[in-house]
Amino acid sequence: MAKPAIYTTTPIYYVNDKPHIGHAYTSLAADVLARFKRLDGHEVFFLTGTDEHGQKVEKAAQDAGEDPQAFTDRVSQAFRDLTAVMGFSNDDFIRTTEPRHKAACVALWKVLAERGEIYLGDYEGWYAVRDEAFYGPDELTERDGVKYAPSGAPVEWVREPSYFFRLSKWLKVLLERYDLPEGHPDRIEILPESRRNEVRAFIQQGLKDFGEGSPKLDLSVSRTSFTWGVKVPGDEAHVMYVWLDALANYITAAGFPDTTAPRWRFWPADVQFVGKDIVRFHTIYWPAFLLAAGLPAPRRVFAHGWWTNEGQKISKSLGNVIDPVALVEEFGLDAVRYFLLREVPFGQDGDFSRKALVNRLNGELADALGNLANRVLSLIQRNCEGRLPSGDVDASDRQLLSPMGLILGSNSLTPSDPPHPLVGQLANLPARVAVELDAQQFHSALEVVFGLVRDANAYITQRAPWALKKTDPVRMAAVLRHLHTALRAYATVLQPFMPETMSALLDQLGVPTDARDFAALATPLADGTPLPPPAPLFRKIDLAAA
Ligand code: MSP
Repeated sequence: MAKPAIYTTTPIYYVNDKPHIGHAYTSLAADVLARFKRLDGHEVFFLTGTDEHGQKVEKAAQDAGEDPQAFTDRVSQAFRDLTAVMGFSNDDFIRTTEPRHKAACVALWKVLAERGEIYLGDYEGWYAVRDEAFYGPDELTERDGVKYAPSGAPVEWVREPSYFFRLSKWLKVLLERYDLPEGHPDRIEILPESRRNEVRAFIQQGLKDFGEGSPKLDLSVSRTSFTWGVKVPGDEAHVMYVWLDALANYITAAGFPDTTAPRWRFWPADVQFVGKDIVRFHTIYWPAFLLAAGLPAPRRVFAHGWWTNEGQKISKSLGNVIDPVALVEEFGLDAVRYFLLREVPFGQDGDFSRKALVNRLNGELADALGNLANRVLSLIQRNCEGRLPSGDVDASDRQLLSPMGLILGSNSLTPSDPPHPLVGQLANLPARVAVELDAQQFHSALEVVFGLVRDANAYITQRAPWALKKTDPVRMAAVLRHLHTALRAYATVLQPFMPETMSALLDQLGVPTDARDFAALATPLADGTPLPPPAPLFRKIDLAAA
């Protein structure tokens, strides 16, 4: 049976400024999930892009003295370039200024209007341009005569005619959907659970303060005080609220309004990655718009935490914004990718520090994994004429291999040997890692693999194959073969995290390019496969010398 198609998304990024580490982080998570699912035989659609309308972007263009379209063309390109620098495997890159997207917004608006979900009124209240969000008076704090939103963004008083979306009608429905049992087709899952509780509490408070169905709980979805946006059909004095416009990108790319489009089969999205600051938009407004339009809501929204830089909040005014491009230049792409997902449990806040990055690069990547590969492959090169040795298993191997979960190919057993329980684990490592990735626990996935890498290092030390050359060459060959088999499995499941380096490792291991998905792990490489001379995988960095 074909595995289900997977749709994963990143937020689309504001083009008010150039990309920073936060943008790279959200997209990296989606990229790893997408790559992993592809290797596991799923059809995947992975979307990212840029959010180009609204007051915030219009103002950034003005500040730069540029026409908004020219400005967004330029800045959007920087985000597109970042996908290449970071090795992202997105299947599409959407810009909200594209005709396909404007058409989808107009179509969505019309459906909502036809269904009576939108009405004309007047908006009066506080608005933060930086967040492109409306805030209630009790959410604000005041400093030096200026009022601020909880995010720290200054707010301004807005009073203008506005269309409203009947959000009030959907809040109860949303609460029910968050709480549906696992596997229910209508469930909207918010992860981590702490975020779900936050969203629930926020809605419950609103319902308590204003009462179910109160227009006070409706959402202003158009503006008249500026023009950089998608015009409201039939009332061109209004442009659509930038979040309605932006959120719709996820269905635009799936073909909306053409629900017979080939890509529509991907909708609803399986995992929508967002930062913790934009949870409300993705778990309340977004599913409410969809349900009101008669469309299915996303299955899961996962909110990750925020990075600080060497203990400090990252901000432009502090001048400590981390440029992902510079980071990749200095430390190498895969070290950066590994660090970002290994250092911090996904969903929690974390601190970026150069020291922590270098420690992980030197200790885990260069020493534990890189050296293991280099030792094994050098020994095969020197002692086995550069050909993959066969690996009969003796009883003592079994004892050592068993607890460490090393994985043996079926050709590791002589025909008279009954299959050992370990044999099953060759195909099992991807499944163990999948458990973690299905919960978006990237750090745990890496822990699983690097735990095995540690065990394999213990095994090579115990068996000391370099010392067996003279005394027991058959055993030496078998030990090297087992380690080769293990390395192949590690490299295969690590490809989504470190695509470049693991591709180099699989080259060195002699694994053909068409035998690098998870299913291929069930077929061992033939004895005698020629292996190219090994080369170091990771470059250690000495921070003191840098
Ligand atoms: N345009 C909106 C999203 C619209 S989606 C329909 C937006 N854009 S953004 O460019 O401001 O932010 C994009 C992402 O970057 C958010 O998920 C945000 O959480 C993330 N990050 C921004 N700074 C961050 C850190 N310091 N750390 C981690 N992620 C951070 O919001």
